[in-house]
Amino acid sequence: MIPSTLLGTASIPNNGGELRLTQRESDFSIHLKGVRGELMNSRVHSSELALAKFGCAHIQGVENTKVLVGGLGMGFTLAAALKSISISSQVVVAELVPEVIEWNKGPLGECAGRPLDDNRALVHLGDVAELFNTRQVKTKQATYDAILLDVDNGPEGFTNTENNNLYSNKSLQAIRQTLNPNGVLAIWSAWHDHKFTLQLKKAHFEVEVKTVRAHKGKGSRHTIYLAKKR
Ligand SMILES: C[S@@+](CC[C@H](N)C(=O)[O-])C[C@H]1O[C@@H](n2cnc3c(N)ncnc32)[C@H](O)[C@@H]1O
Repeated sequence: MIPSTLLGTASIPNNGGELRLTQRESDFSIHLKGVRGELMNSRVHSSELALAKFGCAHIQGVENTKVLVGGLGMGFTLAAALKSISISSQVVVAELVPEVIEWNKGPLGECAGRPLDDNRALVHLGDVAELFNTRQVKTKQATYDAILLDVDNGPEGFTNTENNNLYSNKSLQAIRQTLNPNGVLAIWSAWHDHKFTLQLKKAHFEVEVKTVRAHKGKGSRHTIYLAKKR
């Protein structure tokens, strides 16, 4: 087997460990050093595209909408969101690790067709949770028509243990407050967890669970939780 080449390393904030970018032939991989495993491989990205397709279906062709994508990874979800929205709309992409943004400006960016070059894409360097309204910030208004979350491998901290908080009831309520009426929260997961569906319902979302194959109708089955604000 052709060995992979290490293209870059990055420290994940809050002692989250080391993120590595490697390349084997035309495939790129972003993974966590050690036994924690792979976060993303460019070879399989159908479900990352589906996350945006399902999450933005209700705003296709609608003017002046706003979408939040967390995180950037290899840019597939961002690219698909940009494809789904109108020319007057905007996507904010939140990415925790600065090097991931730099990697996307280099050869990695080719994978998804360089979505960062689209002037409708705005980058927020930092934790996606910083963009959710909290009860303490009373002046903030609902902002997004869709929030697409793919920061871990499912609804539990993987990149970073702090991400566990993202899926708590408190955070889901904050996300709900950040969504415009009829807004949609879509979350990518490598597995289906019935308890998380209940958690979304408890946070007053109407939930639909979609199963999507990892690669062009083949491979592992991934889950997309579609949570509509009601
Ligand atoms: C699985 S990848 C995303 C893949 C992406 N959907 C795509 O299409 O390529 C997860 C990304 O989320 C970032 N991330 C992890 N936790 C985050 C957080 N709390 N806020 C923002 N970005 C985060 C990681 O650094 C990584 O780039």
